[in-house]
Amino acid sequence: MTHKVVMIGGPNLGRLGSRQPEIYGDTTWGQLEVMCLGWASESDFDLEFVQSDMEGDIVGMIHRAGDTADGLVINAAAYTHTSVAIRDALAAVDIPVVELHLTNPDARESFRRTNLLADVVTAGIRGFGIEGYRLALFGMAALLADRPPRG
Ligand code: DQA
Repeated sequence: MTHKVVMIGGPNLGRLGSRQPEIYGDTTWGQLEVMCLGWASESDFDLEFVQSDMEGDIVGMIHRAGDTADGLVINAAAYTHTSVAIRDALAAVDIPVVELHLTNPDARESFRRTNLLADVVTAGIRGFGIEGYRLALFGMAALLADRPPRG
């Protein structure tokens, strides 16, 4: 039973590895993709791993996931705190959505405590670093366990 899962990374996540490694770690986005593909295969997921720095691109990716995938994992990065467009796109999809953050935004600057997405997603994982991606896929497997793949 192969479910299709889309993982979306928002702005600046493509710079992982060199971007503030003391906060985000030294794993690159490319290395993270390889790790996620491995974890996804353990749950027999067909994983699409995508990233964009552009709000409109991410809205389009969410629409496509809603039309074609069984589940969505999203780290909207800074847009988490600002984007009504991404919130509205997530609210409109009818598949499980896991919101993911490497850090715990609530434990950082006060502006990161504004989260426009938290109440329109199914579940959230924050503060586990790269390990959070494995946990998100593990959690998605539980969310999809009783749902047949849309095929
Ligand atoms: C982040 C947290 C956001 O506040 C920040 O803007 C990011 C990354 C995280 O994964 O911890 O770019 O989403």
